[in-house]
Amino acid sequence: MPTLSRDVAIVGAGPSGLTAAYELTKAGLTVAVLEARERVGGRTWTDIVDGASLEIGGQWVSPDQTALQALLDELGLATFPRYRDGSSVYVAPNGERTVYDGDDFPVAEKTIAEMNRLIAVIDDLVTEIGADEPWAHPRAAELDSISFRRWLEDQTHDVEAINNISLFVAGGMLTKPAHAFSTLQAVLMAASAGSFSNLVDEDFILDRRVVGGMQEVSVRLAARLADDVILGAPVRSVRWSDSGVTVVADDGVEVKARKVILAVPPNLYSRISFDPPLPRRQHQMHQHQSLGLVIKVHAVYDTPFWREEGLSGTGFSGSELVQEVYDNTNHEDPRGTLVGFVSDEKADRMFELSAAERKAAILASMARFLGPKTLDPVVYYESDWGSEEWTRGAYAASFDLGGLSRYGKDQRSPVGPIHFSCSDIAGAGYQHVDGAVRMGAATAQSIADLLA
Ligand code: FDA
Repeated sequence: MPTLSRDVAIVGAGPSGLTAAYELTKAGLTVAVLEARERVGGRTWTDIVDGASLEIGGQWVSPDQTALQALLDELGLATFPRYRDGSSVYVAPNGERTVYDGDDFPVAEKTIAEMNRLIAVIDDLVTEIGADEPWAHPRAAELDSISFRRWLEDQTHDVEAINNISLFVAGGMLTKPAHAFSTLQAVLMAASAGSFSNLVDEDFILDRRVVGGMQEVSVRLAARLADDVILGAPVRSVRWSDSGVTVVADDGVEVKARKVILAVPPNLYSRISFDPPLPRRQHQMHQHQSLGLVIKVHAVYDTPFWREEGLSGTGFSGSELVQEVYDNTNHEDPRGTLVGFVSDEKADRMFELSAAERKAAILASMARFLGPKTLDPVVYYESDWGSEEWTRGAYAASFDLGGLSRYGKDQRSPVGPIHFSCSDIAGAGYQHVDGAVRMGAATAQSIADLLA
């Protein structure tokens, strides 16, 4: 393949890289997007498994995700609401199963009061600190030096309240144990969704899905970019100077450009050789950003049997192996699909088992929410992003203790002609497709301004 010459080379055809590329072409600039995989979409991937259409990666859209919603409209993609009619199920630390309605978990009055008090305290921190530059707040260093778990323990002695509040950020979002990230990082996670109240409200944060699947966002963007998206082209090196870059991928694919956008998660930057090397600050910072680990479990049934029993399919437990369960039935699909999540250290334990033992343990846990029929799905699949060469975890990256206040201000700063764009470094929409889209659009805008 001859060396391509473009205004901007983009590494990665996930939602962020493709949004950036699309916006740059609208600004009259030429682009080439180099993608390591043989498909676009990155951590969004809608695929047929044993005859069932599954959202293997990102899927939900919430009301605050206005950048993603605008892009969905522009691409002609419709959304549909998550099924939520009926009662939810809570499994207590002693294994007791309770069917309940309303927003509050069916726990002791004093635990509800503690949970609501903690939510209010975190909401206040979110209002004060915000999502854009949490590292700039006067309390940033203090809140970044204490783990979220320890901070919660300082706030209350109610262990069930601590476990339930942890669930929303630790297992539920950052997919790391609550002792492994800071309170500032937890505030950023909540602020990125507008408030902690929004983050704990599954009817808000898991509101809608895309008809046809979330990967369709990337598929449609790529269609508009046509031959300027090159699949099966893992970028191995970037030679750069102030006057431009040469981006080299496998099989002789080479792009000379004025700028390059690294639209890959930060844990993968070091897979690329930079000549000259990136500055010391980036070398250090990137070693403090890591992806969490979660198994997204899909179980498909001939019918959504739980609905006949008056259940929504929603289940929570801070103590169960599967901490969250939801009805994930596809749009106008007669079959019923459940999705469950096994996070961080629980996922580690599951990967020590054989596939058959793991499936049995996970389905047994889901059955403690929705009954024995849960044990016999017609299709069963585990999304295992930790094994994916070009991702290596899920859902996204977060800093280790102290990293956000120390390095955050530099994570989006370009280095010479090299720009960074992905959901992992977003403010609003952080860790979500919306953040990937926001970062892609913002990065395209700043490059268009520089090249004008
Ligand atoms: P993304 O990782 O998607 O794309 C990066 C691309 O770069 C990939 O295609 C990769 O192959 C490519 N690449 C990497 N290295 C390369 C190299 N050297 N050369 C060339 N290409 C390279 N979000 C949400 O909004 N709602 C949700 O419900 C969920 N749920 C969810 C579940 C699961 C299981 C996962 C894994 C993720 C989610 N997410 C989510 C998160 C969401 O999917 C994620 O934030 C975005 O896909 C990130 O988009 P980016 O474009 O930033 O990176």
